Amino acid sequence: MPLGQQIVYLNGRVIPLAEATVSVLDRGFLYGDGVYEVIPVFGSQPLRLTDHLRRLQNSLDRISLKNPLTDDAWALEFNHLLEKNPGEDRALYLQISRGAYPARALAIKPEHPPTVFIMVMTVKKIDIETVARGIKVITIEDFRWDACDIKSTSLVANVMLKQQASVAKVEDAILLKQGYVTEGTASNVFMVMDNTLVTPPSGHHLLSGITREMVIDLAQENNLPVTIRPITQAELMQADEIWLTSSTREIAPVVQLDGKDISSGIAGPCWRRMMAWYQQHKRSMGE
Ligand code: PDD
Repeated sequence: MPLGQQIVYLNGRVIPLAEATVSVLDRGFLYGDGVYEVIPVFGSQPLRLTDHLRRLQNSLDRISLKNPLTDDAWALEFNHLLEKNPGEDRALYLQISRGAYPARALAIKPEHPPTVFIMVMTVKKIDIETVARGIKVITIEDFRWDACDIKSTSLVANVMLKQQASVAKVEDAILLKQGYVTEGTASNVFMVMDNTLVTPPSGHHLLSGITREMVIDLAQENNLPVTIRPITQAELMQADEIWLTSSTREIAPVVQLDGKDISSGIAGPCWRRMMAWYQQHKRSMGE
């Protein structure tokens, strides 16, 4: 649907995008003081909604912001907006900022209402053979803070890291903290080594992706061994396969890392198997 005809949710109102405006004093604008979620939609079904709402609650708790809606109310608003914005390849975006205070000051004053925004985004259609061509990435030192488990709208560090990848003429970056893999600029990292899937543990240095959880579950259901443990930069360079996972990217195979081919420069066999399980799982959820 063209952006101009989009219908969005803002603070309890369902209105055209062009009419959805917020104050310049909004703390989301002034400080990036807010949290968000991106929920993929299959057919008209938000994927793993309960998990996304659980993560949203965790982000809100971490920044001491009250959840403005119950899980049922969120689900109702999502369904309503999906009906108003028909289409095939969609994702829900929701954002809660701490709202507009009368004066600019850091201290939290819970009496002011938050700003609650939801929109339906169009996402790129996943074509398996196009995705199978893979992506090139570089490694970059992860200079972000120790609160990456909050899905915060303060994303300037991620913007800077993604820009470093763009300047290097590659698709993305895998981030390293003191020699260990954390995540991508907007995705989680998996490697395949000796027929085992390996991904770093969740914690304060990465966002625990819902796609990551789904990939781990699918591997376990299909008897592909999974190990959750730290990954060193040296190991990553030796990996048989590397994948980046996210709600909008699904599972992207990395075919070149720092200029060196991974899995002979093509998407590997484990990726093909996981992609098939993933598509099957999505279909079963939409039924
Ligand atoms: N980002 N790590 C970071 C820093 C992310 O921004 C994301 C997703 C992920 C993967 O999480 P999930 O599998 O739940 O999408 C990991 C979304 C897609 C975004 O910012 O648009």
